[in-house]
Amino acid sequence: MYKIAIIGGDGTGPEVAAEGLKVLQAVSQKTGFKYETVDYDFGGERYLRTGEVLPDSAVDEMKKFDAIYLGAIGHPDVKPGILEKGILLTLRFALDQYVNLRPVKLYPGVETPLKDKGPEDIEYVVVRENTEGLYAGAGGVLKKGTLDEVAVQESINTRKGVERCIRYAFELCRKRNKDKKLTLCGKTNVLTFAFDLWERTFYEVAKEYPDITPDYAHVDATTMWMVKNPEWFDCIVTDNMFGDIITDLGAMTQGGMGIAAGGNINPEGVSMFEPIGGSAPKYTGKNVINPLAAIGALQMMLDTLGEDKAAELVDKAIAYVTGNKLKSMSAGKMGYSTTEVGDLVAQFVADA
Ligand code: IPM
Ligand code: MN
Repeated sequence: MYKIAIIGGDGTGPEVAAEGLKVLQAVSQKTGFKYETVDYDFGGERYLRTGEVLPDSAVDEMKKFDAIYLGAIGHPDVKPGILEKGILLTLRFALDQYVNLRPVKLYPGVETPLKDKGPEDIEYVVVRENTEGLYAGAGGVLKKGTLDEVAVQESINTRKGVERCIRYAFELCRKRNKDKKLTLCGKTNVLTFAFDLWERTFYEVAKEYPDITPDYAHVDATTMWMVKNPEWFDCIVTDNMFGDIITDLGAMTQGGMGIAAGGNINPEGVSMFEPIGGSAPKYTGKNVINPLAAIGALQMMLDTLGEDKAAELVDKAIAYVTGNKLKSMSAGKMGYSTTEVGDLVAQFVADA
């Protein structure tokens, strides 16, 4: 019996999460696992109502679950940063979800802006470090608001943090069993402290994985190749900030935010799954947003829980729906409503 915490969150978050849960119910009936869900109202509305971003008890409470399923965080009436840092980043850090796993996968029938590239070319994963780097919040400000203002924001990289992320990436690359190539994405030519640590750790750990080809690319070159030769990539491992940036680029090449999913993973603890697009306030309540990213996040949750059959089936269902049903991945242009897309996926699962 899996216990799953649901944080619908803001904007279209609850709508897309509901479609994911529809699919969860269908696939649990099909493959025979049991689960229960508990809803949490964390997000902008709750903050505006109570002044509290996240209750003190939240982190401890989340630790009791097998997984967390999140819709979206971000509210137009709340200053940017408050909810993102107070909810999303706090949970990632406090639950030590040290990997942000972001598959870049072009499903059949999905339009990519990359000319002459298809699903066989765009199928790799980015392993983004998720608890350190520039996101650690190290630094400070002096003489704020004056002409002498000084702002320092430091990137924190620990041997332990870097190594566990790199190890995860090697293990994943082995498990994927595709090209058996892991690319470290860094900036060793300029960031000679941080990426020296990354590079040394990477090649040291690589010795334990003789079946995997270790590869290196600077982050600027990585963005170039993600556009020009995405088929060169199998697994990419990188730091928090670079990972944030390159996965938005990756998401665009796989059809946009309507389809891109991610997992915040603590392999020894509680992981949290989310569509990587935002709360899309302008589409809220209109039943037009694409729920496939949230359904993809659900697929990753099943995979991480070890429900391989269920994960495989949901993946097939997504591919069926993109390949045979949806006209576009964009909100309002799918040819179906949000709830209809959820129905299509759930129906495929039920009929399988
Ligand atoms: C993401 C988002 C977050 C991040 C923001 C909302 C804090 O952009 O999940 O990629 O920067 O990690
Ligand atoms: Mn981002």
